[in-house]
Amino acid sequence: TQARSIRTALLAWYDTVHEVRGMPWRKPFDHSWSAEQQAQRAYEVWISEIMLQQTQVVTVIPYYNKWMAKFPTLSELAKSDIDTVNGLWKGLGYYSRAARILQGAQKAVTELGGQLPDNAKDMEAKIPGIGRYSAGAICSIAYNQCVPVLDGNVHRLLSRFLALYTPPKAKQGLDILWEGATALIEGADRAGDTNQALIELGSTVCKVHDPLCGDCPIQPWCKAYAWRVMDEKVGDTVN
Ligand code: ADE
Repeated sequence: TQARSIRTALLAWYDTVHEVRGMPWRKPFDHSWSAEQQAQRAYEVWISEIMLQQTQVVTVIPYYNKWMAKFPTLSELAKSDIDTVNGLWKGLGYYSRAARILQGAQKAVTELGGQLPDNAKDMEAKIPGIGRYSAGAICSIAYNQCVPVLDGNVHRLLSRFLALYTPPKAKQGLDILWEGATALIEGADRAGDTNQALIELGSTVCKVHDPLCGDCPIQPWCKAYAWRVMDEKVGDTVN
């Protein structure tokens, strides 16, 4: 299928770039991981995704490392308190993110058997601060589940890819883009890598201004690119 060819191109590119920025939360999914190891990964990816929500990768890296040194597991975190958590968060901004992480960890320990939910739906429904995007990122990366992500970067990338302009908050447009993200991830062998490749491509290649179409692995399928080229060629023949 087309989704499969697109994923193959995307992953071949991702495999050449995913280590460049040295993100400590990136560990390729391993099918030999036990349920406990996957739950530990869900905890790590959760922290990284919340930190990355409003903050750049380079800034997040040292905060993530300090956090994991202090709270290596969900249960260590749940035993802490808001002042300690805020102390570790100091400088990252948007402190409500930290408060919700602590609440979420405590809820997981007291009500959910000591672990984050094992699927995106429950994660979104039960953990404060986890929305559809974060649930998709965590479950695809930690559990290899084929659930989509649509953050600001992927929104822009898919809008161009499908040649669908839609204001970022308009529901109809969002529904179509979530469907596009879903169609791309369904049936993926490497769901977490596929989603991270989309995020990475959106932030480093399919940039807001002057996207680097010449470096894009999925340019052959991109409608915005095709339109641009067509427009230039039509201009050549007419003039
Ligand atoms: N931004 C949000 N999630 C990310 C991830 N997993 N990798 C890189 N940048 C991100």
